[in-house]
Amino acid sequence: MRNSSIQVLMLLTIFFFMFLPLYDTFFNHFVGEPEETWRRTMLQQQVLYSYTAQQSYRKPHIQDESVDLRIIVIVFNRADSLLRLLGSLNVAFYFGERVVLDIWIDRSKDGQIDENTYSIASEFQFKHGVKIVHNHTFHVGIYGQWLNTWTPKSNSSEIAVILEDDLTVSPYFYKWLKIVHKKYDKLVEVNGYSLQGISIKHGIGSEGFLEAPVGNLVFLYPVIGTWGFSPNRRNWVKFRDWFEVMLHDDKFQPLVPNILPTSWYQTFIQTGKTEGMWSMWHIYHAWKTREFTLYPNFAGHLGFTVNWKESGLHYGPGLARGGKNPSYNLLTRWRLGYENLPDYPIRLDVYGNIDTED
Ligand SMILES: *[C@@H]1O[C@H](CO)[C@@H](O)[C@H](O)[C@H]1NC(C)=O
Ligand SMILES: *[C@@H]1O[C@H](CO)[C@@H](O)[C@H](O)[C@H]1NC(C)=O
Repeated sequence: MRNSSIQVLMLLTIFFFMFLPLYDTFFNHFVGEPEETWRRTMLQQQVLYSYTAQQSYRKPHIQDESVDLRIIVIVFNRADSLLRLLGSLNVAFYFGERVVLDIWIDRSKDGQIDENTYSIASEFQFKHGVKIVHNHTFHVGIYGQWLNTWTPKSNSSEIAVILEDDLTVSPYFYKWLKIVHKKYDKLVEVNGYSLQGISIKHGIGSEGFLEAPVGNLVFLYPVIGTWGFSPNRRNWVKFRDWFEVMLHDDKFQPLVPNILPTSWYQTFIQTGKTEGMWSMWHIYHAWKTREFTLYPNFAGHLGFTVNWKESGLHYGPGLARGGKNPSYNLLTRWRLGYENLPDYPIRLDVYGNIDTED
C-alpha cells in the first residue's frame, strides 16, 4: 500500500518534469495569464515538495529530534553574497548546540544550477554543525525557496531561521532567537521573529522608519520583515496550509487595504510579476488572523542582520545603499539587559503608532 503510493508519486513527478515545459507554453499561449500559470506551477510544487522535503528529513543526521537550530540559506546565483553570509554564520555563537545549515540553491527557469554558487556552498566549511547543500530539483523561485524549505514535523521543537543570501548576521542572532522563541512562542498571535533592526512603515502616507518608544527592546508589527525571519512553527504550518488552499482559488488575491505592499503587489499583477512577492500572502494571512511579527528595537537600529541589497520589493529607496554598504549596523555587543523582555510586547500599527486595540 505504502510502496504503491510512493510509486504513484514518483510517476507523477516524472510526468511533471516531462510536461512542465509544454505546460508552461500551453498556458502562456492559450490562456495568456502569467498569474494563472504561476499559480498552477506553485500547486504542483507544493505537492512535490511535501514529498521531497519528507525524504530529506529522513536522513538520520538531520532528524528533527536531534536539531536545535536549523539555518536555511536560500540562494540562486549570487556566489559572493553567499560567501559573505556564510562567513558571518561561522563567527556567530551557537553554545555547542546542534546546528544544521541547509543551503538551498534554486535553478534557473531552464534548469541550471549556478556553478560558482554551488562551489562556494560545497567548499564552505561550517565549523558549528552539519552543512547540507540542496540543489532544488527544478526552478522554484522565491516562493518555493521560502515556503518549501522548512517543513517541520508537528512535534518538532527546532528553531528555524530563513536567510536570503544578501544578508550578514550578527554573532548574537541565535542567542536572540533562543530568548524570543522561549518567551513568545506561546503567544498565538506571534507568527515569528524578524532579525532586522530597521524597517519602513507600511501604511500608505506614513513616512520614516518604525520607531517603538525607547525602553521597549521589542515590538509587534502586522507586517513580516524578511531580512532574516524565524517562524513560530505552529503559525507557519497554518500559513503554509492556508496558502495551498488559497492557490486553488483563482479569484483570490491577497490584498490588504491601506498598505504599500498591496499597491506594489497590484503593480506586479498588472505586469505579471507576482512571482516575486511571496510576502504579500504572509501579510494577508497575518492580517486576517490578527497575527504579528516580533521585531527588535535597539538604539541606533542595530540589527541581528543587515541587508546589502539595493532597494528591493519590500523596502523603498530610503534603505538603498547601492549594494556597497549595509542597510544599517549589526549588533555586535551583548548587554545583560537584553534578556529582560516584557511578557507582552508593545504593538505598533502600520503607521508606526502604538496600537492598543484588542
Ligand atoms: C548540484 O549541482 C552541482 C552543480 O551543477 C553538481 O555538481 C552537483 O553534483 C549537484 N548535486 C546533486 C546532489 O545533484
Ligand atoms: C516525533 O514524532 C516522531 C514520529 O511520529 C517520533 O518518532 C519522535 O520520537 C517524536 N519526537 C518527539 C520529540 O516527540
